[in-house]
Amino acid sequence: MLYIRDLTKRYGNFTAVNHLSLHIPAGDLFGFVGPNGAGKTTTIRIVCGLLRASGGSVQIGGTSAPVGSREMKRQIGYVPDFFGVYDNLKVKEYMEMYGSMYGMYTRDIAKLTDDLLELVNLTDKKEVYVDTLSRGMKQRLCVARALLHNPKLLILDEPSSGLDPRARVEMKELLKNLHAMGKTIVISSHILSELSEMCNSIGIMQQGHLLAAGLMEDVMNRFGGGRNIHIRIASPMEPAIRLMQEQVGVRIESVRENEMIIAYNGGDQQISALMQYMLQNGIVLTDFHREEGTLEGLFMQLTGGGAE
Ligand SMILES: Nc1ncnc2c1ncn2[C@@H]1O[C@H](COP(=O)(O)OP(=O)(O)O)[C@@H](O)[C@H]1O
Ligand SMILES: [Mg+2]
Repeated sequence: MLYIRDLTKRYGNFTAVNHLSLHIPAGDLFGFVGPNGAGKTTTIRIVCGLLRASGGSVQIGGTSAPVGSREMKRQIGYVPDFFGVYDNLKVKEYMEMYGSMYGMYTRDIAKLTDDLLELVNLTDKKEVYVDTLSRGMKQRLCVARALLHNPKLLILDEPSSGLDPRARVEMKELLKNLHAMGKTIVISSHILSELSEMCNSIGIMQQGHLLAAGLMEDVMNRFGGGRNIHIRIASPMEPAIRLMQEQVGVRIESVRENEMIIAYNGGDQQISALMQYMLQNGIVLTDFHREEGTLEGLFMQLTGGGAE
């Protein structure tokens, strides 16, 4: 769906985006993660045709239309990281204004406005002045407007920043719904935990470089080695401890009453074998599981800290 190849953006001597290559398949809900200043907004603005690249190329869908062309822009709905000021403009009029900018007919805009406002849960705000909306509502209105021309790809730059927890949940639900409706979605954030439960794929960026990208699971697994394993035991602990001490690659992190936490770098099969081995040696297991990896952990591992 979205192909970015060797994209570079320089400001004078400073390189904000450094030879970035990335493919986002159709149907993905892609999380673009990185600390402030990583180059996320710069990348997004280039993809949306709002900023010229210093080098590289961007391609969307099957088209070879140049970046910034009308054809390319038709494929993208863009939700920027700021919401402008709209004096004396009602929600309805805001949608009309953007619809006419896309060259749509007034009647079509009116119909679509109703549908989209319902989708983003703003139906009862249709006659309200835009400037009086809460930040979360403005953000959702922005999503509605970005969907007016029915783009295949929706790109949101830090859509949750500055939102209160409730508004964040609402935004997350909205994005999940849009994804279920078949939109390909790219969402950037410096808040890592926000993306981990929502996105199916991620790219991690730092200082202009893409450190890792791919399916969430793959990226987590690739860098997720070393996640601790929690073991609960109903038989005496001493034999279990002795058994683990003999295992190559196992380090006992902690032991409590009937629970032991070990560090082990093995893959799924080796972990399974380890569990079998304990059972075969008469250890009665009541629980045996690997910690869920977190994006935070992954990020710290990749960048050596400094997620914020
Ligand atoms: N117009 C500009 N001139 C010079 N440097 C810029 C300009 N815009 C952005 N930058 C720099 O480029 C880097 C990446 O910025 P940005 O893409 O906004 O990062 P992010 O969105 O990941 O926080 C930052 O160090 C920023 O200061
Ligand atoms: Mg940004």
